[in-house]
Amino acid sequence: MNRLENKVAIITGAGSGIGRAAAELMGREGASVVVADHNAAGAEETARAVEAAGGRALPVAVDVTDDGSVADMVAQAVREFGRLDVLCNHVGGTDPRKDLDLLRLDMAEFDRAVALNMRSTLLGSRHAVPHMIRAGGGSVINTASVAGLVGDVLQISYGAVKAAVVNITKSIAVQYGPQGIRCNAVAPGAVMTPALQDNLPADVVAALEEANALPYLGRPEDIGHTMVFLASDESRYLTGQLLVVDGGMTVQSPAVPGRRAMLPG
Ligand SMILES: NC(=O)c1ccc[n+]([C@@H]2O[C@H](COP(=O)([O-])OP(=O)(O)OC[C@H]3O[C@@H](n4cnc5c(N)ncnc54)[C@H](O)[C@@H]3O)[C@@H](O)[C@H]2O)c1
Repeated sequence: MNRLENKVAIITGAGSGIGRAAAELMGREGASVVVADHNAAGAEETARAVEAAGGRALPVAVDVTDDGSVADMVAQAVREFGRLDVLCNHVGGTDPRKDLDLLRLDMAEFDRAVALNMRSTLLGSRHAVPHMIRAGGGSVINTASVAGLVGDVLQISYGAVKAAVVNITKSIAVQYGPQGIRCNAVAPGAVMTPALQDNLPADVVAALEEANALPYLGRPEDIGHTMVFLASDESRYLTGQLLVVDGGMTVQSPAVPGRRAMLPG
């Protein structure tokens, strides 16, 4: 309790999924949370949940790809709560029906991926960091993905832009570390958001579980707890890092299922 007392946090994409879980957990730890999302109704719903958990919340409608809209989001946060300590650049993703392999990739989707994942991370940070410097320091938390660490048969844009998010994270850490700004990234593996839970066929879920070292898939709050840690002063010596929260998916050799069968007994 109260690990984020007196801190003000903006979380983009907090209208659903992982962002909503992070907002609720930060509110529970005493933060004032700016719940920023494209989807105003989703943002309102999350804000009510944060308040029900005992925190303070401000829902804000934002398009994270638009400079003016992001500037307005940050201005509203500072106007309402008087300061800014934490920014989670959480919005991201691509459309897997258009973000295919190299030869079948829709280039318009590639441009959208750059805007939604990379441009948004730069814009949010550019508007937030000056306020954090004024407050004596702050924590920027970027959402990457395990997709940015490995090659894949589809979503070539998604992997590329998430890899870029990791490098942007390191540059922000280096450029503003001297002013007390920390910048870290989280790379979720497979996380069962409500949208995925309802839509993924059982065999796909089973294949994802088999790919993990742990015998289960992630929940939104697994990533949310990591974000709380990165937002808090408990991580004051941690910057420029990528925390991979993936149930062991990226440390497990692809040979493991076959080799398990070789074990005696
Ligand atoms: N769920 C997973 O398994 C998983 C795994 C790895 C990485 N991620 C990353 O986590 C982040 C979000 O994932 P999620 O599962 O919470 O997704 P989600 O779809 O539940 O939430 C995304 C939110 O972003 C909002 N949004 C979309 N475009 C926006 C825009 N232009 N401006 C403002 N808000 C916008 C949506 O309205 C939605 O509320 C993404 O960066 C994604 O790449 C998710």
